[in-house]
Amino acid sequence: MTLHGIDDLLGALRELGGVMQPVRVAEALRGVRIDERTLAPYLTWAPGRYTRNLVARDEAFELIAICWEADARSAIHDHADSDCAFVLQHGAITCENFRIAWPDAPAGRCELKRTTTRTLREGEIDMRSGHLSVHRVGAEGGRAITLHVYAKPIDTCLNFDEDGTTRSVNARYDTVPGSVS
Ligand SMILES: [Fe+2]
Repeated sequence: MTLHGIDDLLGALRELGGVMQPVRVAEALRGVRIDERTLAPYLTWAPGRYTRNLVARDEAFELIAICWEADARSAIHDHADSDCAFVLQHGAITCENFRIAWPDAPAGRCELKRTTTRTLREGEIDMRSGHLSVHRVGAEGGRAITLHVYAKPIDTCLNFDEDGTTRSVNARYDTVPGSVS
């Protein structure tokens, strides 16, 4: 596998234009291994959780490095109306997929059912599209590093509890460029 600098990946993504096609984003990410020296400015760690470290953002997309502490995992979440893809750089990641339905349940609650689970190896990608593409992501057996593309950037998405309780959550960054010394 080719080792790229993070700037090479950013350049490749910017070439995809203002409305990025998911299949092209997937092509750009699949198998990509970023030279860790160029990734170092974006890697921060926090006990028991994951950190979201912004690499770059414009109107078309944001590129985020996520650092997963051992056994850290995300909430069950959707992806607003964006397309999302990530590539695993280091470690192992498990993706649990959920099917959701909105029957005549009380407001703020859906029906949630886990369907499939997949463990990614380094260089492998996961792809998501929109509100019906719900998953939970977690590190498996140690620390992990993933690189995520959200096209367009996501400011708010939905989180779900296992019982189907639903809430809107604002996305946040742990670090933005220049904030890590
Ligand atoms: Fe996700």
